[in-house]
Amino acid sequence: MDPDVLKQAPLFRELDGEAAAALAEAMSTINLRRGAVLFHEGDAGDQLYVVISGKVKLGRSGSGGRENLLAVLGPGQMFGELSVFDPGPRSTTATAVTPVELRCLEHEELAKWLTGRPEVSRALLGQLAERLRRANDVVADLVFSDVPGRVAKALLDLAARFGNPRSEGILVNHDLTQEELAQLVGASRETVNKALADFAARGWIRLEPRSVTLLAVDRIERRAR
Ligand code: CMP
Repeated sequence: MDPDVLKQAPLFRELDGEAAAALAEAMSTINLRRGAVLFHEGDAGDQLYVVISGKVKLGRSGSGGRENLLAVLGPGQMFGELSVFDPGPRSTTATAVTPVELRCLEHEELAKWLTGRPEVSRALLGQLAERLRRANDVVADLVFSDVPGRVAKALLDLAARFGNPRSEGILVNHDLTQEELAQLVGASRETVNKALADFAARGWIRLEPRSVTLLAVDRIERRAR
């Protein structure tokens, strides 16, 4: 049990120590190895999850087997709640990008907390609102931004969650392949690689397998605008 990470999840944010402990007690643990699929888009689902350690990617597949990543989640982040509020099939496929530890809560159990504790409902609505804002930004970027702009934004987003400050910049251990990075940006691997190579040639980033160091954050921020 890692209550500190659990407490970062929206579900727990508003709860006092005792209530948080009781909710944590109602959750079970799931461990996944790298590459394991937790659920597929279209599956029926009756559990929500909080990431304790590792990273989970949420993706959808389009026609012709193309993949699009909607999000890469890390410790303290939650998913699988949409089918609680709007019963229906899973809207994405959830796959472990690294070895992953999760806590999971049955929807039935969550329902008890939602009726007894309005602050839990408020916190979940907060997450839904934030996700809608983000989804709107993503749509706007697909329409208005070019691929390098979207690559810059994706790097900053990954840095905000997975970045570690270093003397030369921010080291971001994203654990994604170049193909997955491209799926996150919503462009072909070739175009995304070209943008990354261009950023590297300008000295803004240094590329390493499954990680990147942001050397000139201000430049990347300007490019993301
Ligand atoms: P659910 O549909 O139950 O299962 C898949 C989960 O992926 C979904 O609940 C959300 O928790 C999560 N999800 C769906 N779309 C997004 C998105 N655009 N950004 C982040 N998470 C998402």
